[in-house]
Amino acid sequence: MQTHVLKFDDATIAEAAGLILAGQCVAVPTETVYGLAADATNGEAVARIYEAKGRPSFNPLIVHVPDLAAAREIGEFGEEAEALATRYWPGPLTLVVPLREAAQIASIATAGLPTIGLRVPAHPAMQALLRAAGRPLAAPSANASGAISPTRAKHVLKSLGGRVPLIIDGGPTERGIESTIVAATGGPLRLLRAGPIQVDALASEGGKIEAPGQLASHYAPSKPLRLNASSAEPDEFWIGFGDLAGDATLSADGDLTEAAARLFDVLHQADDAAQSRIAVAPVPETGLGAAINDRLRRAAAPRS
Ligand code: TXA
Ligand code: MG
Repeated sequence: MQTHVLKFDDATIAEAAGLILAGQCVAVPTETVYGLAADATNGEAVARIYEAKGRPSFNPLIVHVPDLAAAREIGEFGEEAEALATRYWPGPLTLVVPLREAAQIASIATAGLPTIGLRVPAHPAMQALLRAAGRPLAAPSANASGAISPTRAKHVLKSLGGRVPLIIDGGPTERGIESTIVAATGGPLRLLRAGPIQVDALASEGGKIEAPGQLASHYAPSKPLRLNASSAEPDEFWIGFGDLAGDATLSADGDLTEAAARLFDVLHQADDAAQSRIAVAPVPETGLGAAINDRLRRAAAPRS
């Protein structure tokens, strides 16, 4: 894949929005770091973020929206979340709030969780892209897995050149570190990640805040799960892949991008099924398969 680096202007935003609506990812500056953005309502587009980053595991991603009104359509904002959003958005604050059931967010973007991390970024390039694409954008930092976060277009090019179609060059980012993350999911506010906005400032706006906070950041089904199952027992819901159809398939074509996009939906379906256990057909370890298998192994690990 050829990577174009284009200066932030109207023509570049129009091209970037076209790529986003076609299910591709685009690197775009925010006021914190450059993000690798994809349509958060399109599971395969979000899977391509992981493909490009070579990230070996799925985590919940921050979903970016143009304003608080758009955020309220996706997440449930209590009094404290409203106060923080009103004070700090647009800006380098991410709020983790309960996900609305009607929200059309792909489950891979939240890694299957019933909560969502939302942020209204201040950078004009990210704002312009959000408005031009008209979709919420999932965006982790635009670097290959294990590399440091990019604050210039050239950092992104070095890390992801050949793996993404477009990098929007908006110059160096202002903050240089990722957003502060606060969970407002009921009970006291919890600081999940320190960042440009200090806890003291947050506490004076939102009241009590626990730091560091604890919040389960991974969804796992409640039932025992067996991996590499080439057949299933009667009490097992069988998750298929490729030629092994199962009760529900990750991808009948053996397509790993589709499988990644469907993973959390299918796990939820298995959890809700009548069978008391879950079996999963073998998934190859190549490409996105590594991240899929990582998540399946964690789901299969005994829990206390
Ligand atoms: O500054 C930033 O926040 C950058 C720019 C691009 O906006 N984005 C960024 O995104 O750092 P990301 O996706 O790499 O951050 C993801 C982190 C996860 O590791 C997790 O800690 C937290 O956000 N997170 C997101 N959703 C969550 C949720 N539902 N529950 C708990 N933690 C969540
Ligand atoms: Mg990062």
